[in-house]
Amino acid sequence: MKKDLLGLKDLSADNINSILETAETMKLILSQPNKKTPHLQGKTVVNLFYENSTRTRLSFELAAKYMSANAANITASGSSVQKGETLIDTAETINAMGTDILVVRHSMSGAPHLIAPLVSASVINAGDGMDEHPTQALLDMLTIKEKKGGFKGLKVAIVGDINHSRVVRSNIYGLTKLGAEVSVGGPSTLIPPGMEKMGVMVFKSIPEAIVDADGVMGLRIQLERQKSGLFPSLREYYRFFGIDEKRLKFAKPDALVMHPGPVNRGVEFSSSVIDGDQSVINEQVTNGVAVRMAVMYILSRGGFAD
Ligand code: CP
Repeated sequence: MKKDLLGLKDLSADNINSILETAETMKLILSQPNKKTPHLQGKTVVNLFYENSTRTRLSFELAAKYMSANAANITASGSSVQKGETLIDTAETINAMGTDILVVRHSMSGAPHLIAPLVSASVINAGDGMDEHPTQALLDMLTIKEKKGGFKGLKVAIVGDINHSRVVRSNIYGLTKLGAEVSVGGPSTLIPPGMEKMGVMVFKSIPEAIVDADGVMGLRIQLERQKSGLFPSLREYYRFFGIDEKRLKFAKPDALVMHPGPVNRGVEFSSSVIDGDQSVINEQVTNGVAVRMAVMYILSRGGFAD
């Protein structure tokens, strides 16, 4: 059994289906006036975030509280990390306080993988550098499953800052394992060489990437991870790669408009697309709570089958 969730690369299609089915049950609980369940009663969940977050951190905290766990948050800026404590020492300290589930976000790819074998707590990767963001991809997949009924025969286009995105990597692993076709698109400076080896089609223009797509997922331009200008300006990025209502018409008329957030309005998508009828961005956020409840429930019951 796997005690941790470090990425979708490591999970089987059966593991992923089991998370999605459990999340569907958790979503029923979330629709009740009283959302409290005893699933994690007596357990302790700690969010250890070295990078900013709104959605992921809050949804893990709410998910833990809805399931009656003790939940606590630590950010790098308010902790002994500022005094020079190492990641491993910090993780071992939190583990020594009786933590059952440790949720980690870090700017370094592989940080949760480093901690996981050193602690008895289950470690959940809440986004590591440019590597993976597995619970984000799972909530994206839950949204697609709810709206489209499954994955086989679907085409999902993921466009924008492919190079710096952990979301794209987790989605590619998850979606292709469940039978969807994935295309990626964006400026050549934001697409890493050899992306095709991940089993996806790569396009340097948005119309080619999204044509006949059932889902169009925009990725945030991550200026904070770019060391030098990889395109002339955000205005020019939007002109050539942003998606407005006219450009969206290359996808299927009922294509889902998705984004992990936070969105740069007028960069990845126009406001009319973000707020339009095809947008499921807020439903993705709701599904994030259900998915995180499901993952923590499964890990508290022994983890994922090998
Ligand atoms: N999608 C996502 O990870 O958002 P946050 O950075 O707000 O958690």
